[in-house]
Amino acid sequence: MKRLLITGAAGGLGSVMRDKLAHLADTIRLSDMSDMGEAKSNEEIVTCDLGDAAAVEDLVKGCDGIVHFGGKSTEGPWSVINNANIQGVVNLYEAARKHGMPRIVFASSNHAIGFYRQDQVIDNTVYPRPDGLYGVSKVFGEAMANAYHDKFGQETAIVRIGSCFPEPRNHRMLSTWMSYDDFARMIERIFDVPKLGCPIIYGASANTATFWDNSKVAWLGWQPQDNSESYRAQVDANTPKPAPDAPDVLWQGGMFCADTIHEE
Ligand SMILES: NC(=O)c1ccc[n+]([C@@H]2O[C@H](COP(=O)([O-])OP(=O)(O)OC[C@H]3O[C@@H](n4cnc5c(N)ncnc54)[C@H](O)[C@@H]3O)[C@@H](O)[C@H]2O)c1
Repeated sequence: MKRLLITGAAGGLGSVMRDKLAHLADTIRLSDMSDMGEAKSNEEIVTCDLGDAAAVEDLVKGCDGIVHFGGKSTEGPWSVINNANIQGVVNLYEAARKHGMPRIVFASSNHAIGFYRQDQVIDNTVYPRPDGLYGVSKVFGEAMANAYHDKFGQETAIVRIGSCFPEPRNHRMLSTWMSYDDFARMIERIFDVPKLGCPIIYGASANTATFWDNSKVAWLGWQPQDNSESYRAQVDANTPKPAPDAPDVLWQGGMFCADTIHEE
């Protein structure tokens, strides 16, 4: 690619992927509303709010691919989620429609399906069961991706990210953890395949413990190489094992399922 846009570039995933995806394009355009530091020689920095349609249109113009990490990444007041994850996603897809429909990686979340039980293995055909307003906003983003694919041919990889952190932090994350390297390998495949369409991919490493089945997207050729099992002893030693009826044990979305509505 000539130019790859990474939104949410100041965030946890954006700041890691900024380097790990640098080889995918001549220029990496980074965007966030927070400080992203200095631009390296292959980078452009654009500060903007995803809720600002005109700014997002300018942001997307001239990009051949988009990795969309920007947005509210936890529960919060509806006005914040609405601006970043609803209006922001509408702005992104409208900008993409007007500017050559660059392929999009949409950072969806396990919280779009958080109210499936952990003792159930689900694939990418299940009906969404969001576990709060944040999860609902991710279901909205998935629906936008589908509508723009069916209506205009816009391609998106919808990635229901589990827990993409340096290491799993608790027992639930032994099932949901995805290493940064496995995610970078997935994104490489997404931009490599000749035809993408609009698949849903569960974002987890090759963990021995799992409740997600990615067999319907085997054609992507993504082969995660890391396994949370190597952290099991560390998790056992450092975190108390939750009770068998705790939300973190019952539900795929874990503690988000027990969270409340965050009033303004
Ligand atoms: N890290 C994970 O394990 C995980 C799991 C599930 C889903 N996700 C999704 O992946 C994406 C990245 O996650 P993260 O962990 O890096 O989150 P993060 O909160 O660290 O980063 C999100 C970034 O988006 C920016 N942002 C928020 N609202 C914005 C707005 N209105 N305009 C412009 N920028 C805005 C924030 O400033 C932040 O830098 C998010 O969309 C999140 O919902 C992440």
